[in-house]
Amino acid sequence: MENLSPSLFRRTSKLDLQQYLLEKRNLINHQLQSLVRDYSFPGRLQDAMHYSIEAGGKRLRPILLLATAEAFGANEQKALAVASGLEMIHTYSLIHDDLPSMDDDDMRRGMPTSHKKFDEATAILAGDALLTLSSQVIAEDTELTAEQRIHLIRELSKASGARGMVEGQMLDMQSENREITLEELEYVHRNKTGRLLNFAVMAGAYIGDASLEAMVEMEKMGEALGLIFQIQDDILDITGDADKIGKPVGSDEGNHKSTYPKLLGLDGAKEQKEYYVRVAEQSLEKAGVNESVLSELIDYLSRRDH
Ligand code: IPE
Ligand code: IPE
Ligand code: MG
Ligand code: MG
Ligand code: MG
Repeated sequence: MENLSPSLFRRTSKLDLQQYLLEKRNLINHQLQSLVRDYSFPGRLQDAMHYSIEAGGKRLRPILLLATAEAFGANEQKALAVASGLEMIHTYSLIHDDLPSMDDDDMRRGMPTSHKKFDEATAILAGDALLTLSSQVIAEDTELTAEQRIHLIRELSKASGARGMVEGQMLDMQSENREITLEELEYVHRNKTGRLLNFAVMAGAYIGDASLEAMVEMEKMGEALGLIFQIQDDILDITGDADKIGKPVGSDEGNHKSTYPKLLGLDGAKEQKEYYVRVAEQSLEKAGVNESVLSELIDYLSRRDH
């Protein structure tokens, strides 16, 4: 895949953004497919890994990482291994999130979930394999220095683990069938979804060698983006079209989940989302990269219908 010219990430029209997303998605898809093929043995486990990786997905986290790295002037090749590792962790989190013992969902990315297509044990193991592969591909990347690789693996582990996404998932499960405060819900969302999105932004800024001041603002932007993303996910679980979102509508209500619309109503949830859109835009401006495709990505993520 050829490198994109700088003009390609200074976009203004909707059509151009779609083209940008498509090109980046193709790049990530190609990379993920070859990594899974090269790093696993042919057989049932590899089939299950391929199945979930190739089921599609919007690839928003790796795209955000690449776009941020580019906004700070880095070559996208430098960000590709980390972007792929991040999407592997995200895909593993979805495989496990759908398991009968968790959200018990049958459809994902428009296809039967891994445990439906294969079986529960295979789904658990495919998730485990994607999780571990993510660190390996970053550790073995030749574009980054050893110091960069250690930093990025550490940050990705923190964002994914027991004080990050996994903690958020635990709290999400513990928030079923009970009332929680808005503050508690925000904490769940910040972790279960926010941490990986924030990692995308921070890793991109780090690879692009952003200044400390810019990093501080990008962290605020990434945190706001995480909340925007999960609030919209909660909204789509009610108002979305199952064919478009590729997963069931009404899963949250069926599982008696704590969500933004449940706590604040649909309008209240939308207001919260708009508040965080303003926070994200302001931080991006302060970081000095609001001219990049990132501002369009904020808008796109907050209004997405799938
Ligand atoms: C779904 O994420 C899970 C959440 C964290 C809300 P995405 O909406 O990014 O799912 P894919 O990757 O496009 O399938
Ligand atoms: C899951 O949140 C976030 C993860 C860490 C996987 P949800 O349970 O709301 O995600 P969907 O709606 O099933 O995609
Ligand atoms: Mg869940
Ligand atoms: Mg779920
Ligand atoms: Mg959801």
